[in-house]
Amino acid sequence: MFKNRVIITGPASEELGINLSRKSGIQLMKPEIKIFSDGESKITMESVKNKNCTIIQSLYPPIDRHIIQLLMMIHKCKLDRAAKITVIIPYMAYARQDKEFVKGEVITIALLAKLLKYFNIFKLITIDIHSKESLSYFGGNIINVSAIPLLARYVLDNIDTYNVIVVSPDYGGFSRAQKFAKILKKDVIYLNKNRNRQTGDIKIETKYGTDLKGKKIILVDDMISTGNSIIKSCELLKKNGVANILVVCTHALLLNEALIKIKQSGANEIISTNSVPNLCSKVDLSDILYSSIKDK
Ligand code: R5P
Repeated sequence: MFKNRVIITGPASEELGINLSRKSGIQLMKPEIKIFSDGESKITMESVKNKNCTIIQSLYPPIDRHIIQLLMMIHKCKLDRAAKITVIIPYMAYARQDKEFVKGEVITIALLAKLLKYFNIFKLITIDIHSKESLSYFGGNIINVSAIPLLARYVLDNIDTYNVIVVSPDYGGFSRAQKFAKILKKDVIYLNKNRNRQTGDIKIETKYGTDLKGKKIILVDDMISTGNSIIKSCELLKKNGVANILVVCTHALLLNEALIKIKQSGANEIISTNSVPNLCSKVDLSDILYSSIKDK
């Protein structure tokens, strides 16, 4: 049935590519990657002439290397005259650079969107892109799939949710946390986060006088990068007497020993998807990705 289809798994998404191929029955192709001493990547892959290709490559660090590798794989499919190219980018890098926050800043997600549009690919699929603004640069052929229902289902199946309150670290992520809380049938609040756009420093305060004493907290965010947003949130929540904290996010980049620091700040556990493969990535995205590609 899928004779003409192939899943091309990039070096950043091997596990996901394998899972997706197993789930869908679509043949897996793993390009050969070599990294030279100067940091350049070399990719070798067999011909995909007339094939319906799905390339999967997440854009976590080293971000720029993963981007160029993705562009190389798309370029090769184009040169081979693949019948159709679908690209899955589980974690979309640069999506936080979606506005000119400080005069003169480059809106890098707009550049990335332009590069991908250049190839005129059939469909682009991503998971929980940071903002609506970043999504808007891609035009009509991008599908932004939410992993929130999958994360909520994982929590319902594995965690005791008695006395839980769902918390978003900022207002920007409130609707995401609301969606999560609705599935759990729990109350939800957001904290007040202010970022100094010059230094990147953040300050977090409680928004409401909600009594959090003795509550079990589920902190929901789209991503953890340095962990600062979550660390500051945990410190504040602990000061307010919460019983324990579970952190749930889609993309856990966990840079600069963020995992250790987050645990030191009071979080008991972190659960994320495998858009970024690591110790916390307990939730496999291949189910929802399969639904997005099965009819392509
Ligand atoms: C911000 O608006 C995002 O939703 C995340 O909260 C933030 O980007 C995470 O970054 P970090 O872990 O460095 O605080």
